[in-house]
Amino acid sequence: MTDLFPLLAIESSCDETAAAVLSADGVVLGEVVRSQIDDHALFGGVVPELASRCHTEAIDPVVQEACQRAGVTLADIRSIGVTAGPGLVGCLLVGLSYAQGLAAARGLPLVAVNHLEGHLLAPFIGQAEPEFPFLGLVVSGGHTLLVLAKGVGEYEVLGETRDDAAGEAFDKGARVLNLPYPGGIHVDRLAQDGDASAVDLPRGMKHSKDFDFSFSGLKTAVWQRVRAHGVPEGQGMNDLCASLQEAIVDVLVHKTKKASKATGTSRIIVTGGVAANSRLRSAFEEAAASQGWELLRAERKWCTDNAAMIGYVAAQRLKRGERSPLDVDANPGMRF
Ligand code: KG4
Ligand code: ZN
Repeated sequence: MTDLFPLLAIESSCDETAAAVLSADGVVLGEVVRSQIDDHALFGGVVPELASRCHTEAIDPVVQEACQRAGVTLADIRSIGVTAGPGLVGCLLVGLSYAQGLAAARGLPLVAVNHLEGHLLAPFIGQAEPEFPFLGLVVSGGHTLLVLAKGVGEYEVLGETRDDAAGEAFDKGARVLNLPYPGGIHVDRLAQDGDASAVDLPRGMKHSKDFDFSFSGLKTAVWQRVRAHGVPEGQGMNDLCASLQEAIVDVLVHKTKKASKATGTSRIIVTGGVAANSRLRSAFEEAAASQGWELLRAERKWCTDNAAMIGYVAAQRLKRGERSPLDVDANPGMRF
């Protein structure tokens, strides 16, 4: 098994070019995340064609730097893990073809990884094996999922968003409030001095019988408020941000409690970019205390997109004998 490590992992599904080098016991020896946020901020969102070009420029220097930080060279790498989906197809293809080229040239085993599985197992990075079963809430810019995880590759999706993802609700709400892209972190910051009960905003599907979510009504509600009263300033802005954040967090906590009861699972994982949100973190801590949950979260740096989480999944799958064909395709709509 040790002949499979060090493992090189590559992530390029959206607007971060990332590489990481991992050891057999799941420890990250070195990693780099190069964000394209500044390149896209001008346009208020990710521009797919621009993102692909940025990945093409960044991929080789990012891989080289990750190796350097890990104290290895490309010649020392024994296996490769790479994100194959979901994501933007042009972006995925940059990382995937780099990984395929390297694997073919050096005769290395390759594992294609589902980006969402990366987020799901991120709390276990640094640990030789993940702990199952658990209930995972994946909340990112593109996805909102509740997953019952029974083992590596054994995932049952209990519910997902019917429209906007939780991160999208933060970002679209922030955009209406003229905050910079991506807005989640700005809403988080402004909300710290706001009153979360100041503005009554909708809780889409909170009381539906299933485990699905709907967040698109929020951006409309914020937009209608802004149209009627203008973009608030000072305390009014803080209050609206706190209210928007609370509306999102409230539904996420409520549905997770419901899923925990329905499945009898009390090990809970909250992961993905939105898991970095301060209120989400405190609300889940409160829920853990009241529900008797064992709450596991990824370190903040591994909540948002990174290659360490992709490497962790690749390591688990390689250790179980899994290999992907060298001509594996990118899968922009990949599901569990
Ligand atoms: O997981 P991620 O880096 O990329 C995707 O796979 O989508 O998640 C990015 C999302 C964005 O919507 C961003 O606004 C949100 O995570 N986000 C936050 C915070 N930090 C990042 N949302 C709320 N509060 C934060 N502190
Ligand atoms: Zn992600």
